Amino acid sequence: MKATVMAVVCVAACLSIRASAISPYGLERSRFHKKRLWNSVDVNDLHKYDLDDDPQGYCGYLTQPMDHFDPLVNKHFNQRYWVVDKYWKSKSHPVFLYEGAEGELLLDEVANGHHAEMAQAHGALILGFEHRFYGNSTTKEGLLLSELQYLSSQQQLADLSVFRVFAEKKLGMSGTNTWIVIGGSYAGALSAWFRLKYPHLVYGSVASSAPVRAQANFEGYNEVVAASFADPIVFGSEQCVASIRQGFGKIEQMKQAGELAQIVKDFNTCQNMTDPNDFKTFASDLQGNFMSAAQFNQVEGNVSSIGSLCQQMMVPDPYQALVKMFNSGNCLDVSFKDFLTMLTDVTFDPGDFYRQWFYQTCTQFGYYHTCDKNTTCMFLPEVDLDYYFAWCKGGYNIPSFDVLEQVNFTNAYYGADNPTGTRVVFVDGTIDPWHALSVLKDLPEGLKSVFMKGTSHCADMHPSLPGDAPALKAGRLEIEKIVSGWLMQAEMEKRQK
Ligand SMILES: *[C@@H]1O[C@H](CO)[C@@H](O)[C@H](O)[C@H]1NC(C)=O
Ligand SMILES: *[C@@H]1O[C@H](CO)[C@@H](O)[C@H](O)[C@H]1NC(C)=O
Ligand SMILES: *[C@@H]1O[C@H](CO)[C@@H](O)[C@H](O)[C@H]1NC(C)=O
Ligand SMILES: *[C@@H]1O[C@H](CO)[C@@H](O)[C@H](O)[C@H]1NC(C)=O
Ligand SMILES: *[C@@H]1O[C@H](CO)[C@@H](O)[C@H](O)[C@H]1NC(C)=O
Repeated sequence: MKATVMAVVCVAACLSIRASAISPYGLERSRFHKKRLWNSVDVNDLHKYDLDDDPQGYCGYLTQPMDHFDPLVNKHFNQRYWVVDKYWKSKSHPVFLYEGAEGELLLDEVANGHHAEMAQAHGALILGFEHRFYGNSTTKEGLLLSELQYLSSQQQLADLSVFRVFAEKKLGMSGTNTWIVIGGSYAGALSAWFRLKYPHLVYGSVASSAPVRAQANFEGYNEVVAASFADPIVFGSEQCVASIRQGFGKIEQMKQAGELAQIVKDFNTCQNMTDPNDFKTFASDLQGNFMSAAQFNQVEGNVSSIGSLCQQMMVPDPYQALVKMFNSGNCLDVSFKDFLTMLTDVTFDPGDFYRQWFYQTCTQFGYYHTCDKNTTCMFLPEVDLDYYFAWCKGGYNIPSFDVLEQVNFTNAYYGADNPTGTRVVFVDGTIDPWHALSVLKDLPEGLKSVFMKGTSHCADMHPSLPGDAPALKAGRLEIEKIVSGWLMQAEMEKRQK
């Protein structure tokens, strides 16, 4: 039997529900092979999809054009939204628009978390909006290249604008409601961009862990990972970093010395790694474990937290610690060919997101977690930009030049980490590797930053717990103050009219 490890990349996703696709030992490949039956949703039969029995809320669908920008494309799809109205005081009370990210958006995520606590405090309605091409918001052909061309952040923001206008009518709102858009990770970037590009539709935006600067060679990710593993605030230390470097250094040394067969034997890889991309896939699997510990530190308890990985690595022989961590008894599948087979599989399942998300990285954002020699990265200096370009080429036939060009376009179009606009709060954590692409200080005109010590990806979005770190509690309070301020200001402006 083959083990469940496969080229790991931390996707720009917030919640541990989705993070579970990145298991402590890598991607669970089985999920790509057990397909649920998929039929596209029939809007004429929508009552069927209402979850009457869920007291948290219900869902609906909205028919959208496949291409908002080309009226000659006569194709449509149905996009899912969620309504959580248990806190909504009146048809004039505020609306919190919760933007979905690169994955299925489920009711639990929409109905719970810090934004729901704020909605309760302000008597607000919560609306969740699933991203096109993910979850139920797509068609059976959604993974074909001919359809993926309609998957972009620009199309999604246009979807959101249509939904914003539709929902106001559909739910009989007074029309004087103050709208706040909220999201985390990639959806955090979308949330900021929606306020910046469509300021007439939403009054403010909370953008958590939002990588608003696109970058092909995202070296900063693993530099932050190294800094986080050295940070005592999360049970890291300089000794821990030294041990990790020593463990990975030994692998690199063995490879240089021509001892690949020994690595194959120790780590029980299914392939002999004669293809350089197999070795890079192996390197990517290994680093992925540490990357997700930094990104989701302690979100899922201590199992793969920085503290527990440090405990495992700070032993006399860190190389053996790595072997122990990855050699589960089953052989480790590091075949790049198998990985591309997965990436090019076009049979759709609502739980899928890899093929769509990597398409988005190749066509808009890059965000590739490289480990270049000339950086402070602790891992094997194998996972380079060319490795990821091989994904774009092998998965979608997109050449590297196009990736670089599109990344430049994304930054020109949205303003990268120096946008201009008003009433967006960027929320980040020092431990979260994604903060390197976000806005970390207040910008002129009322763009705010809340940068919390010791927190990981989207930590502020989780429901508040009594045991939360003081920095996290203070960060949430600051967000609440900013949002309350906006809502008050909006009321004053309405009275003056
Ligand atoms: C999502 O789509 C599937 C397939 O059509 C359907 O069975 C399911 O009920 C839908 N779920 C929701 C919550 O709409
Ligand atoms: C790997 O190499 C060993 C020794 O050279 C050989 O016995 C084995 O069949 C090879 N395995 C694969 C999967 O190619
Ligand atoms: C997590 O691990 C750290 C370091 O090993 C330990 O000190 C801490 O008490 C653990 N926290 C929980 C909640 O178990
Ligand atoms: C490191 O080297 C790569 C090429 O190998 C280059 O693209 C990158 O800009 C360099 N990074 C730094 C921080 O110098
Ligand atoms: C992207 O922008 C960078 C920085 O301005 C520039 O050096 C590079 O040539 C651009 N690349 C492409 C493909 O447009």
